[in-house]
Amino acid sequence: MKVVDLPFVRKPTRSLCLTALSLACVSSAFAQSSSPPLTPDQRADQLIKRMSLDDMHHMVQSYNTMVAQQPPGGIGTAGYVPALPALGIPALQENDAGIGVHNYPVGKDKNGQPTLVRGTAGDATPLPSLLGLAATWNPQIAYAGGSMIGGEAHSQGINMLLAGGINLAREPRNGRNFEYLGEDPLLAARMDGAEIRGIQSQHVLSTIKHYALNAQETNRLTVSSNIDERAMRESDLLAFEIAIEDGHPASVMCGYNKINHVYDCSNSHLLNDVLKHDWKFPGWVMTDWGADHGVNDALDGTDQVSGIDFGSGFSIGSMSSSFGAPLTQALANGTVPRSRLQDMVHRILRSMYAGGVFADPPVIKPLNADADALVSQHAAEQAIVLLKNDHAQLPLSAGVKTIAIIGGHADAGVLSGGGSAQVWPIGGPAIPASQPPVQNVWQWMVYDPSSPMKALQKMMPGVTVRYDDGSDPTRAAALAKSSDVAIVFATQWMCEAIDAPNLSLPNGQDALIDAVAAANPHAVVVLENGGPVKMPWLSKVSAVVEAWYPGARGGEAIAGVLTGKVNPSGRLPITFPQDEQQLPRPQLTDALDVDYNIEGAAVGYKWFDEKKLEPLFPFGFGLSYSHFGYSDLHVNTKGDRVMVSFKVTNLGDRAGMDTPQVYVGMPANSGEAPRRLGGFEKVALQPKESRTVTVTIDPRLLAVFDVSGDQWQVAAGSYPIQVGRSSRDLVLNGTAAVAAARVAP
Ligand code: BGC
Repeated sequence: MKVVDLPFVRKPTRSLCLTALSLACVSSAFAQSSSPPLTPDQRADQLIKRMSLDDMHHMVQSYNTMVAQQPPGGIGTAGYVPALPALGIPALQENDAGIGVHNYPVGKDKNGQPTLVRGTAGDATPLPSLLGLAATWNPQIAYAGGSMIGGEAHSQGINMLLAGGINLAREPRNGRNFEYLGEDPLLAARMDGAEIRGIQSQHVLSTIKHYALNAQETNRLTVSSNIDERAMRESDLLAFEIAIEDGHPASVMCGYNKINHVYDCSNSHLLNDVLKHDWKFPGWVMTDWGADHGVNDALDGTDQVSGIDFGSGFSIGSMSSSFGAPLTQALANGTVPRSRLQDMVHRILRSMYAGGVFADPPVIKPLNADADALVSQHAAEQAIVLLKNDHAQLPLSAGVKTIAIIGGHADAGVLSGGGSAQVWPIGGPAIPASQPPVQNVWQWMVYDPSSPMKALQKMMPGVTVRYDDGSDPTRAAALAKSSDVAIVFATQWMCEAIDAPNLSLPNGQDALIDAVAAANPHAVVVLENGGPVKMPWLSKVSAVVEAWYPGARGGEAIAGVLTGKVNPSGRLPITFPQDEQQLPRPQLTDALDVDYNIEGAAVGYKWFDEKKLEPLFPFGFGLSYSHFGYSDLHVNTKGDRVMVSFKVTNLGDRAGMDTPQVYVGMPANSGEAPRRLGGFEKVALQPKESRTVTVTIDPRLLAVFDVSGDQWQVAAGSYPIQVGRSSRDLVLNGTAAVAAARVAP
């Protein structure tokens, strides 16, 4: 598939440039006046002609400035490539993101609280977790979120966000699932592509990461993800392929792990053959922090080594990295040809031009915090998934006079995930940040200051709302017993570099929910979690609300759903298993090899379908306070595209949003799982309103990857097409008559 350049849209000239960049501002403004406009590639070529070997070498390493004392021009980002003022090349300030603009703790103050590098606590707005964003099934929400965090980055001197996490959820215990977009390549890619487009609309570059198959944190620096080529092309790589086509990220970050025993950043097949040759990716490959493994990485397709120590006394020349002295030597003796260095630099510069960072440098200015928080709230409102609602327990009815709120620090805030995706919220955390059970300075358990309890009180004036912290199940049950409704807030903290030991809620919360449910028949559970959890108490509670990590205004979003101000519309982007025994790997492996050939391309729901397993909640599932009907299915084929149209009707008496999902059945002899998500559309409908939806299915979703021919191959045949409410609730059935086709990657 062809990868096209980002359209270059000039924003209105900004008057104030960052001091460190002002020279670059002047010279880029000058460069703007040239006409006719050159393409980003032509501009990069022109610039390279003026660059010395040292200038070019300078571009292929970034420095870690997550330290208390900054080098000249550093602002405390994970990656910093200093400006080259004589050439008008601005600095690259690469900051972690995905959920928001990350603030790096670099130490602790006298109260044991983290001290931050950039600004003070209070300069970034967290979105819901990316898994939550995926649960919206709404690329417009992902675009708006990306655009918001891109705007906040631009206002802080940052011109690149290390965003776009898209590793498929092969391992539900993975500590970083909250930073990724679930288990399906199409859903993940469409959401990721939209987030990246949103970020880059602000002239802030984005990565996509971690390329590839970085599916668990256990042994993340050494583990080998072992998988056959065809399976990897049809699953994890397909997610990257579609997201790159859609989002045009400036850079791809190669991961820490190995694939089939070769490190990601030394993996010529992954980088040169697939990414750069097959997908024609024009941008640059940067390593994850410390993921370089020698100067030959340059020949294997890596273009930039990230996050190098800049050394004592801010001497930028004294670092040691694969692309430091070893590259100087390799260039001198010709093992890495100069043309390769030129290509590395070309890829960086052309992406900086294409993304608008020359023309529109960051400008320090205050955030529009209220507007940004609203973007996050709207995302959270669409992310929340109503999993169970017996006897219309929710929304809370007017007859409810007393509510018990139990656990999860719901009186103060909502949980967020830890690690490099962490955002230190505006105003600081709701309760002091803590570090259970790890000691790394960058891993903190942070509650965003948005209390679901306070929001509920505001929305239900006159109702008595009482709080118990849940530490004593007997005491919590007593409060539940004396209340009309009891709402337990259950939390599961997840963090980069640490996987969950199992799928159980930690810290005795299952027993707490049991006790509360035994005391009150109107027990509701609200989950704030990083991935699927087991629910041994499910049959005893009347409602379950999946809120993920809901971000800056998560409390308001949860209260909106509980009261009915918001009609829930989230759908699961990940299967919830009944227990670990249903997984391809019942035990999380701490071996140095993980066998992903067990499930191959059948990740998540595809595995459950293939093995005929009944999950706790299937992929795509979610309830509404309304209900929706599907009719009038038409399936047409035009060339290699299958078009599916059908009518969606809101049959209830409340306005709401539905997400009809189109699944493609694979031929029985194809060696594939029974069905794949082929498309989806989120539709807002008034009561009794109908809308005709048309979904076009990408031919790759009907195809198998032919490894020897290096192409997608669609077999001629009659493909079942199903439209449903989830992967397990399929309502309309049709077929698509498809001709044989070959599709180049
Ligand atoms: C993470 C990346 C992150 C980088 C820079 C690494 O440990 O894996 O996702 O972008 O650090 O902070």
